[in-house]
Amino acid sequence: MKSPLSVFFLTSEVMPVVKTGGLADVSSALPQALSGEGGEGIDIRIGTVGFRGVEHRKGFSLIRSFVARTPAGPLTIRIFEGRLAKGDVPVYALDLEGIFDRPGLYGEGGGEYPDNLERFSLWNHALLHLPAVTGFMPDILHANDWQSALSVPLLPHVIRPRWQTKPIRTILSIHNMAFQGVYPLDQWHWTGLPPSYNNFDGLEFHGRLSLLKGGIQFADRITTVSPTYREEVLWEPGGCGLSGALRHRQDRFVGLLNGIDEREWNPLDDPFLPVHYSRDELKGKEVLKQRMREEWGFSSAPSTPLYGVVSRMAHQKGLGLLAETLESLGESGDLPGDWIVLGSGDPEIEARWRGLAESFPDRIRLRIGFDEALAHRIVGASDFLVVPSVYEPCGLTQMYAMRYGTLPVVNPTGGLRDTVEDGKTGLWMEELSEKGLGDALMKARILCLGGGEMEAMRRRAMTVDSSWKSRARDYARLYREVLEAPPWHNPLG
Ligand code: ADP
Ligand code: GLC
Repeated sequence: MKSPLSVFFLTSEVMPVVKTGGLADVSSALPQALSGEGGEGIDIRIGTVGFRGVEHRKGFSLIRSFVARTPAGPLTIRIFEGRLAKGDVPVYALDLEGIFDRPGLYGEGGGEYPDNLERFSLWNHALLHLPAVTGFMPDILHANDWQSALSVPLLPHVIRPRWQTKPIRTILSIHNMAFQGVYPLDQWHWTGLPPSYNNFDGLEFHGRLSLLKGGIQFADRITTVSPTYREEVLWEPGGCGLSGALRHRQDRFVGLLNGIDEREWNPLDDPFLPVHYSRDELKGKEVLKQRMREEWGFSSAPSTPLYGVVSRMAHQKGLGLLAETLESLGESGDLPGDWIVLGSGDPEIEARWRGLAESFPDRIRLRIGFDEALAHRIVGASDFLVVPSVYEPCGLTQMYAMRYGTLPVVNPTGGLRDTVEDGKTGLWMEELSEKGLGDALMKARILCLGGGEMEAMRRRAMTVDSSWKSRARDYARLYREVLEAPPWHNPLG
């Protein structure tokens, strides 16, 4: 019989509170799959940031306010409690005297806020005060990415070992090695950690301090979001400078594939789609495509392949290469199909795409911004979703696409390699280059105009089970396994 298990899941983003990328989707869907009814029966609660507007967020209310001792002195913490959209996983969003009340989450205009170490360290301190304040003393603290990585080494310094009925174990999940929370050492005091952690075996990283490294060094287990990405980050350049630290913890480091929320992303009843469809009845998908073509004013033949992109505009996503490739193909008069591109992020990449859309106005439609509804409609209406990432820890959009019978065209790196089967459920680029991408796009066009095989691939893609239902089990297993092992972190004085 499974023993009851409690987990405090720390994340700076969770749908529907705030979202800049896949972390928000995972932070909502994984805990739901792990919790109560129909799930793994784990008592899981989410600790998140009370970003701007939290007090007015529907379904959230102020349940408590308390004063915590922090490196900034006594700080008033307000806990806003809400529930995830479906299911009843509690979410605690913390406001710390307004330090998160800003237009951006981590920064503005492409730059980071200069006081992010202070903001996120204090948030980690506040989170660790929560068990005492709410009475929810977890078996496991599950941190995600650099934003909550400090909680791992900090835990025994806020929740003293003698107050813990049994040692709380820690798990750090890394969603992207490129973001590490690295700051000058002269700001060390914000961490609230004793100086004994300020060295190579602790958080020190090339003369600076790294929050992610702190998590890697002291967590009982480290996970990342796909098996292939795990292999990639064990060596440079994949590890972004931390491959040595990861190799040091190699036997406690696993790659667990992300899943998708099959209720949020379901072509049968997606509220963002005007028409619904299924694997057995794909007519609705064709109607969607035609509506989208009308709405966006495409004048090509109705059978013209429709390529979609839904992505952060960041170097990682390969959108620079895609722009270059389309530019060259367009100039030689052979731009494949029509394009709907939705994305935002790096101002330079955005500008590049604006230019491209102006050069080929009847073939490329661009929407700069973040638009959940449009993302669903692009995924539903397109024939292909193009994901030419330079690297990709897991990637969710290719799995959403498959579920909607939209074939992903991907660079087979990280989770893209683990989730898309070349020629079966999508197409792989042969190399990460203009030629590799151009060839894959041409192959897609031929496939689409060819008919029968495309239909079979669509159906096959739609049968792939990417649900969290099965994948969450890996986390449940890991939680149980970690509780049986002795704690790894021996608090330093
Ligand atoms: P990453 O987290 O690296 O951005 P993922 O594929 O894991 O990549 O997750 C991206 C998530 O963000 C998906 O849910 C995708 O639909 C969404 N998304 C990305 N860009 C946009 C956008 N401009 N508008 C709406 N949703 C977006
Ligand atoms: C990160 C990664 C992405 C992954 C997501 C959720 O944002 O870039 O590949 O799918 O986290 O784990």
